Amino acid sequence: MSLVGIAAKRIVTCDVSRATPDNPLAVVEDAAVLYDEHSISWIGPRAAAAVTPGLIDAHTHSAWAGSRHDEYALRMAGADYRAIAAAGGGILSTYRAVTAASEETLALELAARLRRMAELGVTTVEVKSGYGLEPDGERKQLRAIARARADASLPSVVATYLALHALPESARGSRDYYVLRASTSMVQEVAQQKLAQFVDAYVDEKAFTVDEARLVCEAARRAGLGVRLHIGQFADIGGAQLCAEVGARSADHLEHIDASGIDALAKSGTLATLLPVASFTLRQDPPPVAAFREAGVGMVVASDANPGTAPTESLPLAMALSVPMYGLTPTEAILGATRNAALSLGLAGHGVSRPRGTLASGARADMVVWDLPHELAILQPWGAPKTHLVLRKGRPIAGSAHSR
Ligand code: NIG
Ligand code: FE
Repeated sequence: MSLVGIAAKRIVTCDVSRATPDNPLAVVEDAAVLYDEHSISWIGPRAAAAVTPGLIDAHTHSAWAGSRHDEYALRMAGADYRAIAAAGGGILSTYRAVTAASEETLALELAARLRRMAELGVTTVEVKSGYGLEPDGERKQLRAIARARADASLPSVVATYLALHALPESARGSRDYYVLRASTSMVQEVAQQKLAQFVDAYVDEKAFTVDEARLVCEAARRAGLGVRLHIGQFADIGGAQLCAEVGARSADHLEHIDASGIDALAKSGTLATLLPVASFTLRQDPPPVAAFREAGVGMVVASDANPGTAPTESLPLAMALSVPMYGLTPTEAILGATRNAALSLGLAGHGVSRPRGTLASGARADMVVWDLPHELAILQPWGAPKTHLVLRKGRPIAGSAHSR
């Protein structure tokens, strides 16, 4: 399926809905038309539009149910995220909501969320499990993600098995057994059933240790899955060194990382995935962006969409915040949500066919026609969808010009 575009001084549409007494042939001046082998997908004035690769959100937890608005209010009034978690809230609160929800409900909620993301210009979304916690719950969440993956009217989905996210109450007395099962037999099963392309673990103080996460990474290597890890969100416990050791594609959060960790990421070519919405709601200091830049660590910007730390579905919001909060340049913010995001998901780079995140011959026709005069306008003003047409593999999936 290939999408073709023609730009012309005058496009004579003969379209009655555009025709006026002064312009009976409905000519659109200085215009472009996009089409594939079946139909025209868009015609409009090219001066009004900027075209970019489809945006890629490389870190989301968007397969959730329930709502944590009550906890958000407490946190904004000063309650501590990890203290709420230790008291059975936080991730465990969403675990209970996901446990109570059917696979069907999870799939519907996820699809609705992905559709809204597409309206914002997103054509590929990484979606993690990690709220099922028990094997049956994780399987249910991953199957719901697989349903969204099979739906060509939504953004493409890359699934990640988030093996270690929180310890459910039922496992309080048997942590070792819980960790071993989640990180060995479950990784194998998930790979065999093709339910995920990546594994993840939350490596932090009061979460999981480097040694526990290493079990997940080693099982992933045996099963042929990629690795991306939550590290250094609250404390640096050596997660970056683990990322380098196991060849992780991406190290995510990174508010806490020291010079040797940055060096390790640079040497292993692991990308740094930055999540400004989460550090905004947690009122944290930014990650060391200047040091990443200097060391040559590639940066990705993602939404972290989840019901706790990052209550948003908007990658453009994360991109916007990354500039004033983290000191990314607008160029870095755009590359972080396109080319670098694709690299972090194995969707671009050496030997990848139909790469995403770039517009070049041979690349996949994932594109956004923006209702904007310039690409920098993606970063401001905030809060409204500004897409004219969003194409996945050359097919419209969203945008103001997309009629369903
Ligand atoms: O990326 N900190 C770990 N995981 C998520 C939050 C999940 C939640 O609070 O539900 C994060 O911030
Ligand atoms: Fe996350």
